[in-house]
Amino acid sequence: MQLIRIALTKGRLEEQTARLLERAGMDLAALREKGRRLIIPLPGGCFELVLAKAADVLTYVERGVCDVGVVGRDTILEHGGSFYEVLDLRLGTCRFAVAGLPGTDLSAGHEKKVIASKYPNVAAAHFRQRGIDAEIIKIEGSVELAPLLHLAHAIVDIVESGRTLRENGLAVLEELMPVSARMIVNTTAMKLKKHEIGALIDSVARAVEEDI
Ligand code: PRP
Repeated sequence: MQLIRIALTKGRLEEQTARLLERAGMDLAALREKGRRLIIPLPGGCFELVLAKAADVLTYVERGVCDVGVVGRDTILEHGGSFYEVLDLRLGTCRFAVAGLPGTDLSAGHEKKVIASKYPNVAAAHFRQRGIDAEIIKIEGSVELAPLLHLAHAIVDIVESGRTLRENGLAVLEELMPVSARMIVNTTAMKLKKHEIGALIDSVARAVEEDI
């Protein structure tokens, strides 16, 4: 058996991913007792988990230092990259939306619209496609602040429960696309570790189906 190194996205997705991998048969006691460790070998020597920020999961998998990754489709759409997207894990489900103060009409008026987002590429592609002239400002977090402080006419962000928008007096202006966590695989590892990665994909796919 060859070792499979799996990059997991730290934070929001981490617990849901851990539960899914447990249902797929992995013993994740070591993950639960990890403290501040970032690389966690699992018993049996078949798997090693790596905990990384979402965009870095793409980098580690694309460059082949991790064989497999679990990351949100939002991050994949924003950063792109060369890897196989093999499975929709149906967790971390949310959607991309344009949001702003209720009643904001982005197609009204001739002035350039200012859009704040943690996802500048997704935002730019959307407004280009809509034929709306937009200046995109990259914000690192709590992007809801931008329209409230009149930095931007609107934001492009992920909406999960809608609570952050609601509690800040903002509304969805336009729904874009749904987002969920995906399993990605390095293209070379898919060939060199075909048997092991194939078995992993099968067991995780079964765990996803059983949970529906
Ligand atoms: C995300 C997103 C929204 C919020 C949406 O931010 O950018 O702010 O969650 O979730 P809700 O619809 O359930 O309220 P996150 O919590 O990741 O923090 P950040 O803005 O600091 O990145």
